[in-house]
Amino acid sequence: MNDQYELLDSGNGKKLERYGDIILDRPCAQAVWAPQAPELWQKAAASFDRVGGLNWDGRNNVSKPWNVEIAGVKMKLCATDFGHIGVFPETRELWRWIREKLAEQKTEKGRELKFLNLFAYSGGATLAAAQSGAHCCHLDASKGMVDWARENAALNKLENAPIRWIVDDVIKFLRREVKRETRYDAILLDPPSFGRGKKGELYKIEDQLMTTLDLVHEVLSDDPVFVLLTSHTPGFSPIVLKNLLRQYHETGTFECGEMLLTGKPGVNDLPNGNWARWINN
Ligand SMILES: C[S@@+](CC[C@H](N)C(=O)[O-])C[C@H]1O[C@@H](n2cnc3c(N)ncnc32)[C@H](O)[C@@H]1O
Repeated sequence: MNDQYELLDSGNGKKLERYGDIILDRPCAQAVWAPQAPELWQKAAASFDRVGGLNWDGRNNVSKPWNVEIAGVKMKLCATDFGHIGVFPETRELWRWIREKLAEQKTEKGRELKFLNLFAYSGGATLAAAQSGAHCCHLDASKGMVDWARENAALNKLENAPIRWIVDDVIKFLRREVKRETRYDAILLDPPSFGRGKKGELYKIEDQLMTTLDLVHEVLSDDPVFVLLTSHTPGFSPIVLKNLLRQYHETGTFECGEMLLTGKPGVNDLPNGNWARWINN
């Protein structure tokens, strides 16, 4: 599977990454060690820091959007004012897993599978699921992000794939889906530490996560495939996420781990969030 992403180095509270031909130097609080390859950092086309505000140095070098392929999904990237560029590559192994699991289970169950992606951002996981032939529902409160995800769908020639694009608040949407009796076979949710719904509804992971998970389990089909929960919030370790899922299932397999930014062999892996999943079997 083609992959144009690579972690080149990390350290001194920063990460150096290659996205296609473009090398970026951005903050990363957990990189508390010393860089392994200090000489590489001068290759950065642009760097971002939060010292005295939010600043790109060399933004001219990344003024135009560019495309990369990560874990088999083409993504449009663009330097935003907040230092994000439109992809979180630590989730790429999960995209691969979602695509393979849904393809395998589609064959095994002999029916269409319905995949729901909540807090879906620029759509990497949605598009990986769509590549498996799943019917997808992609939800984010930000219209700009949903538009961006649709552009990514077109880049992957998936503009006519069965994907519902929804701009809404997660909790409001799930309550409506419960009432409408819409059900999903596989659900991914990546709740932010702090976020805003479509109409400015406050989302705080510590206050809203349990309600979100209750609703997620209400919209799960009678013969589901998985629930996958990821988080970048400090304290939400792999075991914390796994224990949250265990509340809802007496049988099945539970797996959990860290999300990692990775590079060539020998480059230190850089942890960036955690995941846990329940797999029905
Ligand atoms: C950290 S990003 C998710 C990253 C994404 N899952 C990925 O791996 O590429 C959080 C997303 O949640 C969305 N969001 C925040 N609060 C929300 C809410 N209450 N309802 C729906 N989406 C929300 C934001 O617009 C943002 O796109």
